[in-house]
Amino acid sequence: MVLSTLRNLRTPTATIPAPSSSSATAKPARAVDGEILLETTALTKTYAGADGELPVLAGIDLQIRAGEVVALLGRSGSGKSTLLRCLAGLIPPSSGTVAYRDQPLKGANPGTAMVFQTFALLPWLTVQQNVELGLEARGTAPDQRAEAARAAIDLIGLDGFESAFPKELSGGMRQRVGFARALVVEPDVLMMDEPFSALDVLTAENLRGELMELWASGQFPTRAIVLVTHNIEEAVLMADRIVVLGSRPGTVKETFHVDLDGPRDRNSPAFQDLIDRVYRVMTGRTKESRIPGRPDGIDTDRRTPANTPLPGASVDGLSGLAEMIAHHDGRCDLADLADDLGLEVDDILPLVDALELLGFAGISGDDLLLTDRGTAYAGADVQESKTIFAEAAMHAPLVKLITTSLHQNAGGTLRAGFFRDVLAHHYTSEQVTQQLETATDWGRYAELYAYDADPQEYRLENDQPRPTARS
Ligand SMILES: Nc1ncnc2c1ncn2[C@@H]1O[C@H](COP(=O)(O)OP(=O)(O)OP(=O)(O)O)[C@@H](O)[C@H]1O
Ligand SMILES: [Mg+2]
Repeated sequence: MVLSTLRNLRTPTATIPAPSSSSATAKPARAVDGEILLETTALTKTYAGADGELPVLAGIDLQIRAGEVVALLGRSGSGKSTLLRCLAGLIPPSSGTVAYRDQPLKGANPGTAMVFQTFALLPWLTVQQNVELGLEARGTAPDQRAEAARAAIDLIGLDGFESAFPKELSGGMRQRVGFARALVVEPDVLMMDEPFSALDVLTAENLRGELMELWASGQFPTRAIVLVTHNIEEAVLMADRIVVLGSRPGTVKETFHVDLDGPRDRNSPAFQDLIDRVYRVMTGRTKESRIPGRPDGIDTDRRTPANTPLPGASVDGLSGLAEMIAHHDGRCDLADLADDLGLEVDDILPLVDALELLGFAGISGDDLLLTDRGTAYAGADVQESKTIFAEAAMHAPLVKLITTSLHQNAGGTLRAGFFRDVLAHHYTSEQVTQQLETATDWGRYAELYAYDADPQEYRLENDQPRPTARS
């Protein structure tokens, strides 16, 4: 199916006709390879938070050149989507500039079109009508719209689905509509925000392959692709350049040039080596790329709730990971582990952060190693594990803050709102909620304190001794 579709696409009739000479937007001349299409200079973005400004992007200098596929890679919340939206002119930067072909952007970028993770189709419109939408906004005449949409539909392998409604389509077919709708406007730069992450593995693989073949064949006039992803393998498979963003606030942490021949072989040593190198930067394992706020970057006695956020990891999740490492004789390669579990790096990083924060594991090279404390925890029965966990959890600043505050408060109870306010100075409300959920889970399991959802109150259990953290 894939190959025959692609073979059919190689006929000249599948090329998208230029929307129209009378179209509202005159196309600039085709950029030659290497020409800068998009450029950000000292771009920053801050959002208004519950308690002042929240810096999301800081000092981003980025160039997107004709002929390249650039992957923006980073952990959840690192500002990838925000950067993409700034490049597309959908939101303005707080300071700094975004320029398209040397012209500072004022509003939506005329040279870009976006493919979204969630497809963003209008359910009451057919495939054909959804694809025509982009052109309608640009003022293309109806007959030219219809013709261009048919060609885009053909190009992306949706022939025969023109009159179908989105709900009749599989996820993969819906995302093809997303691609067709973006390509029909012949963007100079195609923007994609995690376009494959809502699809099952095989569908994603198939679509990725088809898109890259289309790109290589030059059948659509797009001159560059910017792909947002948190999937390292996807970035190494597709990109010519990988830009890794750090978090809080997002900065360009490192750039990798991918010199692998296509089609890229996942099993080749060069491919694996690049995955490992990118992985090390993503996890903050290199000196120059430590992620601020990660527990291993800060001495235990200097950790505070502000500089050491609690990762989104449940006791069950982190205990499961500890047991899994114990089964691998206390040591395993992180990337392999994620692979074995059918997960992405991003999925297990919070668990890894949690094990490190608790002193249950440490990183050596690409391997995750259980410490003696972690080994004891993984092998303990329920009561023992609670005791070990209670001691370890006092190394987590927020758990410690809640515990000591409760002990200092004569009544032994405190409203969650108190801790929410303290954290709101440093985190978004979403992050505050996640951290309090983790603190509640950890504190309850450790029997350091209890939490009543109504009236949102932490309290000491009556018979609780005052805990201490021993290093
Ligand atoms: N409109 C907004 N208002 C306030 N904060 C926002 C807004 N949009 C994003 N944020 C915050 O900015 C940070 C970066 O968000 P962004 O969506 O750009 O990250 P991301 O790297 O795309 O994450 P993900 O991988 O989860 O999609 C997050 O902490 C998020 O909560
Ligand atoms: Mg995003």
